Amino acid sequence: MRIWGHGGALPPQIITNEQLAQQVDTSDEWIVTRTGIKERRVVVNGSGSLVALALEASRQALASTGVAPIEVDLILLTSSTPDDLFGSAAQIQQGLGAYRSVAFDLTAACSGFVFGVITAAQFIRSGTFRHILVVGADVLSRWVDWQDRGTCILFGDGAGAVLVSSHSRDNLLGFAMATDGKGGGLLNLPYAPDRSGFAPIFMNGKEVYRFAVTKVPETIEEILAKSHHQPQDVDWYILHQANQRIMDAVALRLGVAPHKMVSNIAQVGNTSAASIPLALDDYARSGQIKPGDKIMAVGFGAGLSWGGVLFQWG
Ligand code: UT7
Repeated sequence: MRIWGHGGALPPQIITNEQLAQQVDTSDEWIVTRTGIKERRVVVNGSGSLVALALEASRQALASTGVAPIEVDLILLTSSTPDDLFGSAAQIQQGLGAYRSVAFDLTAACSGFVFGVITAAQFIRSGTFRHILVVGADVLSRWVDWQDRGTCILFGDGAGAVLVSSHSRDNLLGFAMATDGKGGGLLNLPYAPDRSGFAPIFMNGKEVYRFAVTKVPETIEEILAKSHHQPQDVDWYILHQANQRIMDAVALRLGVAPHKMVSNIAQVGNTSAASIPLALDDYARSGQIKPGDKIMAVGFGAGLSWGGVLFQWG
């Protein structure tokens, strides 16, 4: 089995920290020092959609492998913000012309992409499917309270995609995944009957931060131990891009050199399920991540949920 192909898509509209500081009581300096974020991209109502972003990322990912849409067996859209609550994966199938594939959505917030890759791997290892497109896409800007300075500074929109395919070598080296529903109230986007819709995103930032800096290193250590790797054997760590301080803290705790910690949070903010494949796409496109490199990707977020996957790229 191999994980290969990469694609990423961002909406054109940029919102800078300075622009946010004109709407809520915040500053570029606060946002940069507390999160590492400088700007984020958002889908503007009426122009652009989750499906459009996901399609662009998917086309790039397929093009980079040479696998044709008609060869794809399964499309897994990992997203918490589909254009359609019944799921948006079928629209990606249609848009790509991947008519042989079955397509469905998988929701696990910011852990979605990692859960999607692990799910895809089971279908590959069982021999059920040969080519699975895993897309991570979110447009959280639709669900942010733009008056809440605790959350509106964090999120951005985007999509990223990879292909998981059968191969003579199994390049999935290890994985772990977990859920703790007790923490569901710390970060959610619940149905609100009084609004006949959904409440804006709620997050207890401090508690979620504490959860992340505890569970992420534990998960990495678990995967490394089970797969007989040392932290330094891994070429790249791609953590969910939630906060630069979380990435720095994890690097320090594991003794990982900071340059191995992939980061594009300054330009895109927290893009939820898109965050890991977008960062992977950035580094693969620039030639920093190369075929054969060992990558540890770790997602974490609402649920609470978290999970990691160690694989050899390409
Ligand atoms: O994607 C899912 C996973 N998500 C995460 O992992 C997010 C984890 N949490 C975080 O990244 C951080 O908790 C935040 C970036 C959300 C907040 O940073 P913090 O250092 O934990 O700040 P805080 O919530 O403890 O707030 C510190 C102070 C407070 O003021 P007082 O009470 O000390 O006077 C806040 O009211 O900063 C204030 N504050 C702000 N000030 C300026 C909160 N948000 C802002 C803001 N601008 N945007």
